[in-house]
Amino acid sequence: MSEKISVEKTVISVEQDSFMPPKARDYLDMDRQYRQLMYIHEAAIQEVVSRLNILKGEFQFSNDRNPISGISSRIKSKESIIYKMEKKGLPMTVSALLGNIHDIAGVRVICPFIEDVYYVARMLARQKSIELLEVKDYIREPKANGYRSLHLIIHINVDFAERSMSVPVEIQIRTTAMDFWAGAEHQLRYKKEREFTAEDEEKLKHCADLMAQADEEMQEICGDFNLDRDSW
Ligand code: GTP
Ligand code: MG
Repeated sequence: MSEKISVEKTVISVEQDSFMPPKARDYLDMDRQYRQLMYIHEAAIQEVVSRLNILKGEFQFSNDRNPISGISSRIKSKESIIYKMEKKGLPMTVSALLGNIHDIAGVRVICPFIEDVYYVARMLARQKSIELLEVKDYIREPKANGYRSLHLIIHINVDFAERSMSVPVEIQIRTTAMDFWAGAEHQLRYKKEREFTAEDEEKLKHCADLMAQADEEMQEICGDFNLDRDSW
């Protein structure tokens, strides 16, 4: 049995003389195609995390404090991908997936201070093999529920054996306070034992505003960096 694999077009075909019945063969094709796609995104995560670790390490050599306190990542689960595609009314095809879902690869960066968030974003966006596709600044314009974070969609160049690919990655950059709030809000929202009430929502919004105020005051105490949030 011979195989032809094209990563670029994400086309995989298995020769007709295969001993398998067509259905099983089709299923294996799809399964392999999906796993290949996930691998490409995992590789992109590794690239981004590696860049961030290089930045983080660089600060250990200077006497300055470190603008990066934590890095985590995840690959979107198959269930979440299907849910999102159904919600958007997309056909279940690889090209619809590639064209519309840009957060299969997700990286989260936690920073001590607000200005660090913009600093890290700039440091990434300036890199040669990174292209900035989209910025959602939920710090400047928080969501109605109080959610704050800076979201970037980037394309990062990944070199494979025979070709280079530009792969989308969603990067969420936020302060420790914003992360504390987002983690708690997520847990409360999906808590099974009790319903999430309007009063809960209001209280959470209040807590988000307290976090934001603390972040601003901490930034005032910190005072250094003094980066212009518009400049990157
Ligand atoms: P989705 O990716 O389908 O969520 O839509 P979108 O692209 O418009 O989303 P957005 O960029 O606003 O947010 C994407 C991600 O940010 C989510 O998957 C969460 O990880 C995070 N996020 C956004 N809003 C909230 C929120 O209100 N609470 C929490 N805890 N996380 C949020
Ligand atoms: Mg998104």
